[in-house]
Amino acid sequence: MKQILYASVSARADGQPADVIAILEESRHNNALDGITGLLWTDGYRFLQVIEGGEEAVDACYARICADTRHRAIVTIAERTVERRAFGYWAMAHKTADALSDVHDQRVRRMMEHATEEIRAPFLELVSAREAA
Ligand SMILES: Cc1cc2nc3c(=O)[nH]c(=O)nc-3n(C[C@H](O)[C@H](O)[C@H](O)COP(=O)(O)O)c2cc1C
Repeated sequence: MKQILYASVSARADGQPADVIAILEESRHNNALDGITGLLWTDGYRFLQVIEGGEEAVDACYARICADTRHRAIVTIAERTVERRAFGYWAMAHKTADALSDVHDQRVRRMMEHATEEIRAPFLELVSAREAA
């Protein structure tokens, strides 16, 4: 089983937030078919996402995500083989809709230990912004 954590920023130039609802609908539809689970943290401007599942499915999904022009500055923070899913059951959970995200936040914080400080600081802020959302 493979797990990838990456960070990116919205590519919109008009200052408006990304259409997160559309991204989530598309993701949940595809991920349910592909056996992929994970979480997407976003404030509409920054994205922090974990995808996990079978290696081939995750690689194909990440290739599509990386080619998506709705976001840019994509940085892979962690890419690893795992025994089991950390974010199982959710085809793609959204941080503000997820009552159990405290547990998930801790897991992502641990995964973020591999990130450079430049990436870590702004995105840890995104993870902990949940209370305010
Ligand atoms: C921030 C972000 C996260 C995304 N997450 C996923 C995802 O988890 N799964 C997925 O299939 N597509 C995801 N997408 C959409 C893909 O980039 C791509 O548009 C989609 O997979 C294409 O699906 P289609 O071939 O069915 O049209 C995401 C896009 C963005 C911008």
